Amino acid sequence: MTQDNSSQDNAAGQTGGGDLFNTAAGWVLFAAGLGLGLSILSGKFFHGDKPERPEKLGYVIEGVVEEGAGPAEMSMAEALNMMPAAELIAAGEKAYSKCQSCHTIDPGGANGIGPNLAGVMGGPVAAKGGFAYSAELKALGGTWDWDKMNQWLTNPKAYVSGTKMSFAGLSKIEDRAALAMYLNSKGANLPVPTFVADAAAAGAEGEAAAAEGEAEAVAAAEAGTDPAAATE
Ligand code: HEC
Repeated sequence: MTQDNSSQDNAAGQTGGGDLFNTAAGWVLFAAGLGLGLSILSGKFFHGDKPERPEKLGYVIEGVVEEGAGPAEMSMAEALNMMPAAELIAAGEKAYSKCQSCHTIDPGGANGIGPNLAGVMGGPVAAKGGFAYSAELKALGGTWDWDKMNQWLTNPKAYVSGTKMSFAGLSKIEDRAALAMYLNSKGANLPVPTFVADAAAAGAEGEAAAAEGEAEAVAAAEAGTDPAAATE
């Protein structure tokens, strides 16, 4: 049948129109079926890609740490060397949004629920004037170095039981390293500890060996030197 015929028939009687209708309906059904089939197919194909792949593979999932299963969490030294210092500091500045409700960081900033954090990294623990620290944090003593800050930010209440800092902690070493770097950039600028696999990157800072020495010096200072010696 031709277009002409059927439209003529349509005007004249029911049959031609019916045919045309059926044909059209058939195409509609076909198209719908095709569409459905395609969407099922594409679902099959593209879904496999969908489940968001974590940016970094091999995260240690909290609470499921099994010895021997999967890579262990990287060390603070490794995390501190995982990207150029400036990038890590920028990442830390972002992560710092989690701290802002209680802390200020600019020099001379007010104490809030928590003390001002300018100069904290590399400085003595619990030493900001005008802030009422918990006795427990004061008792920790020493200097905020990479290791102390790492443990503190992992879980403040576990590290210093009785602390007034109501913050659950950061489960990812990457976040803790970034934050410590950021605090350090607003603090004493402690040298970044060397990480052997990334020795080249650390060497680029020109302080690889010096870093170790100074880190030890800080550790020694922590071991009992009068923190007053380190105050500004
Ligand atoms: C809910 C409020 C709150 C949040 C959020 C918070 N803190 Fe604190 N922070 C405190 C308080 C309160 C103290 C004092 C703790 C004490 O005296 O026991 C403190 C103390 C500290 C200290 C020790 C300061 C010193 O002078 O020795 C550091 C370092 C610190 N916080 C870092 C952070 C960082 C980094 C974050 C974000 C990841 C953060 N805090 C989030 C309330 C908070």
